[in-house]
Amino acid sequence: MEEIFSVITKNEEETMLVAEKLAKTVGKGVVFTLVGDLGAGKTHFVKGFVKGMGSNALVTSPTFTIMNVYEGGKVPIYHFDMYRLSSKEEAEELGFNEYFDLKHLDGVVLVEWPENVSGLITCPHIEIIIEKLDGDSRKIIVGNEV
Ligand SMILES: Nc1ncnc2c1ncn2[C@@H]1O[C@H](COP(=O)(O)OP(=O)(O)O)[C@@H](O)[C@H]1O
Ligand SMILES: [Mg+2]
Repeated sequence: MEEIFSVITKNEEETMLVAEKLAKTVGKGVVFTLVGDLGAGKTHFVKGFVKGMGSNALVTSPTFTIMNVYEGGKVPIYHFDMYRLSSKEEAEELGFNEYFDLKHLDGVVLVEWPENVSGLITCPHIEIIIEKLDGDSRKIIVGNEV
């Protein structure tokens, strides 16, 4: 990964604000991976991102559905949580490879737990790493994966 920028947030509101601002610069055909421990703030990042895309859809963790779609913004937002999957083959059986074909992607994709489906996301994408620091502080690192 090649770092583009990093920022430290002090609470969940700040994390959501970073994501909201980033989303304002994004259009269709962009894939983001979100890397970080349980409770790091990946889903809160998506909440802010969805708001920044102009959607007021309710963001929930798609742990059991694997994917949620949020409409009402600039473009559809596909929110994946690969937590329950354990290989790229499992994701492919569910038909998810089509979301990682940038030429045909009509929206934006955000993927929690991409490491569980290693090898699935071969298209260029932006990686967001969220590291837990002391208390409610988090380091958010944004980089290129090409
Ligand atoms: N700086 C911060 N950024 C994001 N979440 C934070 C922060 N500080 C505390 N939190 C808390 O951490 C938890 C993050 O949960 P969630 O977004 O579901 O994490 P993940 O999806 O990475 O498992 C929430 O309870 C949130 O309130
Ligand atoms: Mg989550």
